[in-house]
Amino acid sequence: MMETLIAELPKVELHLHIEGTLEPELVFALARRNRIALPWGSVEALRSAYQFTDLQSFLDLYYQNAAVLCTAQDFYDLTLAYLERCHQERIVHTEIFFDPQTHTARGIPFSVVMEGLMGALEEGLRRWQISSRLILCFLRHLSEESAWQTLAEAEPWLDRLHGVGLDSGERGNPPEKFARVFERVREIGLPVVAHAGEEGPADYIWQSMELLKVRRIDHGVRAIDDPALLEVLARTRLPLTVCPLSNLRLQVVKQMSDHPMRELLERGLCVTVNSDDPAYFGGYLTANYRALVEGLSLRAEQVVQLALNGVEASWMSDEQKRRWSEQILNVARTHGVGNL
Ligand code: ADE
Ligand code: ZN
Repeated sequence: MMETLIAELPKVELHLHIEGTLEPELVFALARRNRIALPWGSVEALRSAYQFTDLQSFLDLYYQNAAVLCTAQDFYDLTLAYLERCHQERIVHTEIFFDPQTHTARGIPFSVVMEGLMGALEEGLRRWQISSRLILCFLRHLSEESAWQTLAEAEPWLDRLHGVGLDSGERGNPPEKFARVFERVREIGLPVVAHAGEEGPADYIWQSMELLKVRRIDHGVRAIDDPALLEVLARTRLPLTVCPLSNLRLQVVKQMSDHPMRELLERGLCVTVNSDDPAYFGGYLTANYRALVEGLSLRAEQVVQLALNGVEASWMSDEQKRRWSEQILNVARTHGVGNL
């Protein structure tokens, strides 16, 4: 019953790194196509290296694998494969992060990345009616100067970008490092988000709100340590894009039953479910919903609330939000879920 509810609910994804959908099979296929030598003997050998102790141990492999992405066709194939997965899992809207510095640092032009991503997003809309947004992320382990440089490279594409985010190694790279460049991004008229409170402290969530003026917090699970912050997040409904399987695989939580999602939801925060880097963390969006339900014994009403929160937290039009909220409630009703 819960399985089919999760499968049938129209779902929104708001925290998805497109480079994190690079499956080991595609790593090998693209390496062959681009004549790049890999340090792995086989797909299985690569997959067996996906045992992470923390965020950095994952990022090292994630950046290494991204080096097989060279042409617009590569970025197109990567993105279309993810969108096909969305179609299979009834993800109707997705807001996708990409890390241009990972590619421009290797000499791949910004335009090559954009052409591939945008071509696939247009095809996903045409073929499966999946709507999308594209969010450029600055890598926080790099300098503020590098972020400024990236913003300059993005200039010709600003009308096709929907927001700017901040990702990569959190510890020692506080939001305040990027306060000036984020101010410029907001002046340009783009909404901003930031990864905060994944491995870093609740204070980084405060900084993201007060200095970066974010519209959403990516992860944000460390808010659980700070009652005053929880109160503000509940009152303002500033959304958190939470990624349960990522938190488990990166040892942000020891086991799913320790995950704060249920408490955050019950305190009235606008928490949403997302997959982060599904090729690395053992599952796409429905797997994240399933793992939460199993680990935290969530009720069907709570699963429906999480799906509704995704719509609320998204950057869809108000009309689209109304439509998808209604459809979610219709599916809930057919499953006998009330009390919403
Ligand atoms: N880049 C890709 N996934 C990330 C994560 N979970 N945290 C920070 N940076 C990332
Ligand atoms: Zn992330």
